[in-house]
Amino acid sequence: MFASSYTQYGSPDVLERIELPTPTPKPNDILVQIVATTVSAGDWRARSLTMPKGLGLVGRLVFGITEPRKQILGTEFSGVVVEKGANVTSFEIGDAVIGFPGASFGAHAEFITMPANGKVVRKPDNLSFEDAAAIPFGATTAYDFLVNKTKLQQGQTVLINGASGAVGSACVQIAKHIGAHVTGVCSGKNVALVKEIGADNVINYRGQSVISPTDTYDVVVDTVGTLSWAQAQHGIKVGGKMVLIAGKTSDMIFGGIKAKLAGKTMIGGVASEAPDILAAVVQLAAQGSYRPVIDRVFTFDDMQAAHAHVDTGRKRGNVLITVAQPSNIEFVA
Ligand SMILES: NC(=O)c1ccc[n+]([C@@H]2O[C@H](COP(=O)([O-])OP(=O)(O)OC[C@H]3O[C@@H](n4cnc5c(N)ncnc54)[C@H](OP(=O)(O)O)[C@@H]3O)[C@@H](O)[C@H]2O)c1
Repeated sequence: MFASSYTQYGSPDVLERIELPTPTPKPNDILVQIVATTVSAGDWRARSLTMPKGLGLVGRLVFGITEPRKQILGTEFSGVVVEKGANVTSFEIGDAVIGFPGASFGAHAEFITMPANGKVVRKPDNLSFEDAAAIPFGATTAYDFLVNKTKLQQGQTVLINGASGAVGSACVQIAKHIGAHVTGVCSGKNVALVKEIGADNVINYRGQSVISPTDTYDVVVDTVGTLSWAQAQHGIKVGGKMVLIAGKTSDMIFGGIKAKLAGKTMIGGVASEAPDILAAVVQLAAQGSYRPVIDRVFTFDDMQAAHAHVDTGRKRGNVLITVAQPSNIEFVA
């Protein structure tokens, strides 16, 4: 099979197309031929070892001390089951699926094996393979932070910084689905998009201040890392919450204490990759309550260019990679 691999950290130039043996599924695994995948912020961090200031060592501990531990990136995919292990009863060969290897990576390849009872679900018929591949990374992060960790409620007001990114655009839509009143923050070129996906108000951070003492929210979510606690606290109601999906290192470490002293709560950490969250967001997409925003679509051979676009930090939603045409997939019985 073909795959995109890297053996040293760096710019997109470190990526190369290689050939590897196609993996054989273990008794509890399925083998999936990938139709589409994405280049996510997770791929960008792992490839470039870009971490919040002061957390470089943490990055190396997570991704590999001297060189990358996982040499094939790719956090999410859609595809078709082409082979299954002897114990697998929950999937059939030919099933269209959505998978979320997440921090295990491995989706920038022609094939991937996944535990059948893991982070993989059937693709609803009303979702294209392209949309399906772009669901897991952004939407599971948004769902876990807003629904599970923050317990965002109907009628609450929420400010979402970075509302046009993969995570931010999912936050806007999931917050609207919950029934919150959403203010999204983005640059001018993305104002129309952020309105279109449901935001009630949009702040253009280039022309307006994001936080003003006159507009306070129940919840302030930062998906970019540009809102410090020192700033954001003035926009949070007493009893309200700041959600740090991306943030400054000092706020990650001391924000909880500072927030508590101000009668507020800081929620941070890492999003759960639990399979039930993937199932929940795919269901939201199937019922039309969530639609991943697709920015550009690249071919597999344009992997370096796709990474370079993600490296700008300005992508709109998700950057897609097409890997195979579903009509060309032969099922291995
Ligand atoms: N804690 C966790 O478990 C977890 C999980 C997943 C992701 N993350 C982190 O979440 C972050 C976001 O991920 P992502 O996939 O959403 O990234 P992304 O798609 O690359 O974000 C790009 C978006 O950020 C916006 N942006 C850039 N600078 C901005 C600014 N100063 N103010 C407001 N918006 C700005 C851009 O909009 P404009 O072009 O309009 O500026 C662009 O649309 C990453 O740092 C990622 O590592 C954390």
